Amino acid sequence: MFRSSSKLIVNGVRHLSSNPLVGKDVLSAGMFDRNMLDYVLERSGKFVTHLRAGNTPKLLDGKVLVNVFMEPSTRTSGSFQTAMLRLGGQVVGFDSDHSSAKKGETLEDMFAVVDNFADVIAFRHPQIGSAAIAAKSARAPVINAGDGAGEHPTQALLDLVTISQEHKRVDNLRVVLLGDLKFGRTVHSLIQIFPLLRNIHVTLVSPDALRVPSYVLDPLKGKLDFVESNRLSDDVLAKADVLYVTRVQRERFDTQQAYDAVANEFLLNRKGLAKLNSKAIIMHPLPRVNELNVDIDSMPNACYFKQPFYGVATRMTLLASVLGK
Ligand code: NCD
Repeated sequence: MFRSSSKLIVNGVRHLSSNPLVGKDVLSAGMFDRNMLDYVLERSGKFVTHLRAGNTPKLLDGKVLVNVFMEPSTRTSGSFQTAMLRLGGQVVGFDSDHSSAKKGETLEDMFAVVDNFADVIAFRHPQIGSAAIAAKSARAPVINAGDGAGEHPTQALLDLVTISQEHKRVDNLRVVLLGDLKFGRTVHSLIQIFPLLRNIHVTLVSPDALRVPSYVLDPLKGKLDFVESNRLSDDVLAKADVLYVTRVQRERFDTQQAYDAVANEFLLNRKGLAKLNSKAIIMHPLPRVNELNVDIDSMPNACYFKQPFYGVATRMTLLASVLGK
């Protein structure tokens, strides 16, 4: 959106920076500071309580979310829709099979049009940087719901809300990020959040060909305590508070052969996690393919089917906050 200030008029009401997200696009995890994170954590915690009690406040009555999803999505589009409906708002949805992008419409034109329908827009697209292009064409706040192999900031926030709810802290943690760290956009966003937390140690475990890209990692050097490895050791498992696993992103590889060469390097099962710290939580943005065996699902550490619940609370926070409610 055009406005850059966190202080603006929404529905005739002047909002001050106590809500640090009002009127903002959410394009990159890099836009957050600790104050904003704490706001998201606290507000999402309240929405978790409301969701559990079945009494979500209808703060967005009369507001419309336009969900534009031009890549496959179950969780993220469903999560945004649910969050909006739980807050009393309404949702209009477009996907790539039924949009004029197929006729050759540019993103700029599409969002100049969609802007007329929306109070807020959630956007997923295969191209890195596409959400930023959309945001320039729309006055309504644009929330990046995944721009290709770029970022997925709302997933990173819901991951942080999950850690906060499950561990009751977001500082003083040892985190393992494992899998496709090259193309996995959730990792690219989450890793930008960590320097805002205190005393975080990160182990980045991936096949050599799937390391975090240097354009993501280099800016974090000196700000984040991390090591890279191409194996997952028992010592790392024993010390971890969070084991965050991602699938190898098949759709981002140029050839099937390139995918096959790395697809099965890290296939975890219950036995292989024998040394995992009993208090550690196992996370995954989902969908999983074969990197987490189903025999892990019944471990008390498994947290990946709780993440979508925290995701609804987190997106309620984001939708309400950018709309100044
Ligand atoms: C992730 C994504 O789309 O980047 N899924 C999600 O939004 N929960 C992860 C993935 O597709 O592997």
